[in-house]
Amino acid sequence: MKHIHLLFVALVAIGFVGRVAMAQYRPEMLAVKWVKLSPHILAGLLLLTGIGLVFQGDWLSGSYAWIVAKIILMVVFIGLGLLTMREQGQNRWLAFAGALLTLFFIVKIAVTKQVLFFL
Ligand code: HEM
Repeated sequence: MKHIHLLFVALVAIGFVGRVAMAQYRPEMLAVKWVKLSPHILAGLLLLTGIGLVFQGDWLSGSYAWIVAKIILMVVFIGLGLLTMREQGQNRWLAFAGALLTLFFIVKIAVTKQVLFFL
């Protein structure tokens, strides 16, 4: 299950970078149906496998602040991802950098199980 979760992490990250590249250089490709649908399916499966892991590993019986932090940061990542697609020019790249930073912190929290993400 963990490897499936990690597979979706990789697919979401690659898909996001790919869609930003399309928005910048080939915006007409974003209208293709599977390009529009896949991020929602991938993010949904990422969330579902994450929830599956929570129960599989009985993670709620301990201190689960890191899981809450992951879910909140995932919402932040999706928001910044939307901004990246919507904005143009410099604002797009600021949102893009923020989204990548958020992704980095989510992975860091996942690995360390610590919410103090500035450490
Ligand atoms: C963008 C979103 C996400 C990213 C980048 C991400 C990343 C990761 C990574 C890298 C690991 C492996 C950690 C390790 O092996 O040390 C992991 C494991 C895990 N994730 Fe996620 N995750 C995301 C979303 C979620 C969500 C939404 C949940 C819960 C609802 C979740 C719950 C878990 C659990 C329970 C584990 C297992 C921890 C372990 O067995 O050590 N993840 N995640």
